[in-house]
Amino acid sequence: MRVALISGASRGIGEATARLLHARGFRVGLLARDGERLRALAAELGEGALPLPGDVRRGEDWERAVAGVLQAFGRLDALVNNAGIGLMKPISELSEAEFREVLEVNLLGPFLGLKAALPALLASKGVVVNIGSLAGKNAFKGGAAYNASKFGLLGLMGAAMLELREAGVRVVNVLPGSVDTGFAGNTPGASWKLAPEDVAQAVLFALEMPERALVSEIELRPTQTAPKGS
Ligand SMILES: NC(=O)c1ccc[n+]([C@@H]2O[C@H](COP(=O)([O-])OP(=O)(O)OC[C@H]3O[C@@H](n4cnc5c(N)ncnc54)[C@H](OP(=O)(O)O)[C@@H]3O)[C@@H](O)[C@H]2O)c1
Repeated sequence: MRVALISGASRGIGEATARLLHARGFRVGLLARDGERLRALAAELGEGALPLPGDVRRGEDWERAVAGVLQAFGRLDALVNNAGIGLMKPISELSEAEFREVLEVNLLGPFLGLKAALPALLASKGVVVNIGSLAGKNAFKGGAAYNASKFGLLGLMGAAMLELREAGVRVVNVLPGSVDTGFAGNTPGASWKLAPEDVAQAVLFALEMPERALVSEIELRPTQTAPKGS
C-alpha cells in the first residue's frame, strides 16, 4: 500500500491526480482550502481518501496535513506539490501583494510541503513530484510573477533533488504546457489543450519507476497549439 499527499486536490490537475492514484491503489491525502470540495471528493472516492483542508502558504497547515496522513495511513510515499495560482499582469499593474501571493502559493508552498513531509519521505524512500510549468523555463509578457514563481520552483527543487537522492528521496518536476482547467480564470473546454488526466498520468509514471531510477524532469506539451486569435 502506498500513500500520497496531493496539494490543490480540490479541482483541476490535483483532483485528476487524486482520482488516478486512488484508482491505482494509493491512499490519498487531499489538501486545498476548499474543505467542502475535498470532503465531497473523498466521499466519492470512498475508503483511502482523506480530506485535509489547509492553505499551502502556512507551515502549520502542512504539518497538520502530514500528521493527518500518518495517523490515518501510517506512512507517506509521495508528496505531490500541485497547488498553484496564475496571475498574469504587466509589471506596471502588478501590486506587491499580488506578487507576494503568487510567490507564496507557488514557491513557498512547495518548500513548506517538502519541509513538513521530509522525515516521512526519508523513512519511506519516497518521491516528491512538483507540478511546475513550461513557464518555469520560458518567460512571457505578463508572466512576471508566475514566471518568477515557476523558475524559482525549478531552482528550489533542483537543489532538493541533488541533496536528497542519495538518501533515497527522489524529486521530480513535471512541466506541463497549457492544461484545460479553470486555472488563471480560464474557462475549461479548450480541446487543443492537455487534459488534467494527462498530467496525472505523468505523475503516476514518475511514481511507478523503480527506486533506483529518478525521472528528474518531465516536459509535457499538447500536440496542438492555440487556435489563431484565441
Ligand atoms: N492549467 C494550466 O494550463 C497549467 C499549466 C502548467 C502548469 N500548471 C500548474 O498546475 C498546477 C495546478 O493547476 P490547475 O490547472 O489544476 O489549476 P486549478 O484548477 O485552478 O487548481 C488549483 C488548485 O490549487 C489549489 N490552491 C490554490 N491556492 C491554494 C492555497 N493557498 N492553498 C492550498 N491550495 C491552493 C486550489 O484549491 P483551493 O482553491 O480549494 O485552495 C486548486 O485545487 C499549478 O501549480 C499550476 O501552476 C497549470
